[in-house]
Amino acid sequence: MYVPKNVVTNHDLTRVMDTSDEWIQERTGIKERHYATRFEETTTTMGVEAAKIAMERARVSQSDIDFIIFTTISPDYYFPGCGVLAQRALGIKEIGALDIRNQCSGFIYALSVADQFIKTGMYKNILLLAAELHSYGLDFSTRGRNVSVIFGDGAGAVVLQPTEKGQGILSTHLHSDGSQAEMLSMINPGFHAGKFVPEKRPANPDQPYGGLFITKELVEKDDVYPYMDGPAVFKKAIIKFPEVIVEALAANDLQPSDLKLMIPHQANLRISQMVQQKLRLRDDQVYNNIQKYGNTTAASIPIALCEAWENGRINDNDLICLAAFGSGFTWGSALLRW
Ligand SMILES: CC(C)(COP(=O)(O)OP(=O)(O)OC[C@H]1O[C@@H](n2cnc3c(N)ncnc32)[C@H](O)[C@@H]1OP(=O)(O)O)[C@@H](O)C(=O)NCCC(=O)NCCS
Repeated sequence: MYVPKNVVTNHDLTRVMDTSDEWIQERTGIKERHYATRFEETTTTMGVEAAKIAMERARVSQSDIDFIIFTTISPDYYFPGCGVLAQRALGIKEIGALDIRNQCSGFIYALSVADQFIKTGMYKNILLLAAELHSYGLDFSTRGRNVSVIFGDGAGAVVLQPTEKGQGILSTHLHSDGSQAEMLSMINPGFHAGKFVPEKRPANPDQPYGGLFITKELVEKDDVYPYMDGPAVFKKAIIKFPEVIVEALAANDLQPSDLKLMIPHQANLRISQMVQQKLRLRDDQVYNNIQKYGNTTAASIPIALCEAWENGRINDNDLICLAAFGSGFTWGSALLRW
C-alpha cells in the first residue's frame, strides 16, 4: 500500500467548509485522510509506489509481470488509462494493460478478471494496481461537504500468481444494477449531453459540432463534482454487502463463523458495523481502517488487506472475505484461502 504523506484531519476541513469533527466521526467514523502532494503525485504515481512494494514482496521483477490491471475512478487522463502510464513508469515492456472502472467495487472486479486469466493458464504474474486521487477534484465548499469529507487518496497493489488447488482465490461474485446509476456519480464532464438527466442538458452551443463535453455553463455553474444521495446509498449498501458475502460463503459451503477476517470496502464505518451485526461477526473478524484513510474507493480493500497482513491479522490458510459496494450500483465479493 501507499498513502501520501499529507494527513488532513476533520478539523483541517472545518477551515474551508461548514462541518465539524463531531459530525464526520459520528456519521462516518472518519478522523483523518491523506491527500496527495499537489502537482507531484497522481493516481498513477501512487499506484506505482504500491506496485513496487508488492513486486518486491512477491519477489518478481518487471520482466516477470505478464499482465497489468489498473482500477480507479480518478484516472490521470480521460484517456489513455492509468494502466499504460503505470507500465511506462515501471519500465514494463509491451504486455497487455487493462483499465477497470468499477468504482468502489473496482478491486473485486479486477481480482475476478485476474483470477480468470490465471485459472485458464493465460498469465502467471498479474500486477493489479488500485489507486485513487480524489482530493484534486472534490468540491471543498460547504455545498460539497457531504461528499468531500468522506473521500481520501491512496493506493494498493497485489501480484497474482497460480497456486495450489484449495488455496488462493476460492471464488468471486460480481453484481451490478444500473437502474440508479446517477445516485452516486460524477457525470460531468462527459459525453452524455444530458441524455439521461434532462435537467442537465447543456444549452445548445452556438456551433454545429462538438462543444458538449465541457461547456462554459458547466464550469460557470460549478457542475463538475461528484454527486451522492448519501441516505439512498447507505440503505442499498447495508442490504447488498451482507447478501454478497453470504453468497460467497454459501458457494463454498462455509459459514460466517468460518471467517478469520472480513475486509469490507471502507465506505463508511457505520455501514461496516451494520454488516458485521447482520452477519453476527465478532469484532476480531472484521477489519476497518476508514478512521485513518477515509473512503479511498477502489484502493480501500488492498490498503486494508496490506495493513491487516502487516499487523499479523492474516496468516497462512486463513479464510478471508473481501466485499465491496459502490457507485453503479456495483457490488461483489471474493473469498480467499490465504
Ligand atoms: C453521507 C452520509 C454520511 C450522510 O449522512 P446522513 O445522516 O445520511 O446525512 P444527510 O445526507 O441526510 O444530511 C443530514 C444533514 O447533515 C448535513 N451535512 C451533510 N454533510 C455534512 C458535513 N460534512 N458536515 C456537516 N453537516 C453535513 C446535511 O446538509 C443535512 O443537513 P439538513 O438536515 O440541515 O438538511 C451518509 O448518508 C452515508 O454515509 N451514506 C453512504 C455514503 C457512502 O458510503 N458512500 C460511499 C459508497 S461507496
